[in-house]
Amino acid sequence: MTQLHPVGIAGTGLCVPSRRVTNDDLAKVMDTNDEWITQRTGIRERRWIEDDRNCSDLATDAARQALEASGLGPEDLDMIVLGTVSGDCVFPSVACQVQENLGAKNAAAFDVNAACTGFLTALHTAQAFIASGTARNVLAIGTEALSRIVDKTDRGSAIIFGDGAGAAVLRRHEDCGRGEILKTHLGSDGSGHDLIILPMGGSAHFHNMPSYDPSKHFIQLKGREVYRFAVNKMAEMIRWAMDGLDPDEVCCIVPHQVNQRIIEGALERLDVDEEKVVVNIDRYGNTSAGSVPIALHEANERGLLIPGKYVVLVAFGAGLNWGATLIRW
Ligand code: COA
Repeated sequence: MTQLHPVGIAGTGLCVPSRRVTNDDLAKVMDTNDEWITQRTGIRERRWIEDDRNCSDLATDAARQALEASGLGPEDLDMIVLGTVSGDCVFPSVACQVQENLGAKNAAAFDVNAACTGFLTALHTAQAFIASGTARNVLAIGTEALSRIVDKTDRGSAIIFGDGAGAAVLRRHEDCGRGEILKTHLGSDGSGHDLIILPMGGSAHFHNMPSYDPSKHFIQLKGREVYRFAVNKMAEMIRWAMDGLDPDEVCCIVPHQVNQRIIEGALERLDVDEEKVVVNIDRYGNTSAGSVPIALHEANERGLLIPGKYVVLVAFGAGLNWGATLIRW
């Protein structure tokens, strides 16, 4: 992409619910156990949203933290781009609710629907608007309340997913002097659209249809098929991001927290130091669009993002969609 204005990340933030759900908690309501979940996924616990909160609340709290870190106020924002598949309503957008919550009255606000690639899609959209000179300060968010849309008795899906949100404030690099986004790739393969799907709530599936099926209110996941795709795509995207770079100059790789074994499977195909790969799936599970920005913020807090060194973000998920971003921190 030709960039009239190089774009930087001026601040990051996160919000995860306080309610912890361990593997043992799940084993009380479905036929599973801690050993199976830990060995097959790396997940030990996940967070589920409190009953009196919604997806937009998580997004708002993460956004407030990112704004504070950036030194900007809500009225400085001229756009909010938000990735989610578990928004408060089918419409209007969660981004509009966040705009209202923040008092970001000068910001246009809209959602993008790219599942686990939602944050990278929001980030790339934000970057494109700033790079072209159309916007100056943009908030990119990934947020999910997936516990509200999984069948909590289905061991094939409920064990994997968790709730949470992450956010980043993007500005012209000349305005913030850090986190310069060097390149981003997004891709899709719609032939895999039924591998991870939530049919109900869309207009093709409705309550009074002859073939109404209540299970269609929940995420339906063909985990084994996604597994193969995920290992290959993660390796391919990290390779693309690091092409031509000295691996020693890469300080951090922030992958979508999909499954510990998928991350390890991808790394086996690459010349990458495992120590540089941020993993928090043991604590949060897969938070879809929240996954990458939560891990990015934690890496930021832990001082793993070293000024002048490269940071790689990589994600993939329902659609199928995938993406990667290379940043010079
Ligand atoms: N607890 C105990 N046993 C379970 C189980 C659970 N939660 N889930 C499945 N099993 C059983 C299966 O019934 C199967 O038993 P069988 O061999 O007697 O038939 C066995 O464990 C293996 O099942 P399988 O589905 O092959 O396991 P897996 O190693 O592929 O792990 C996932 C399942 C879902 C964890 C894994 O495929 C995965 O992470 N996929 C990608 C996740 C994804 O799609 N995320 C969203 C998009 S980013």
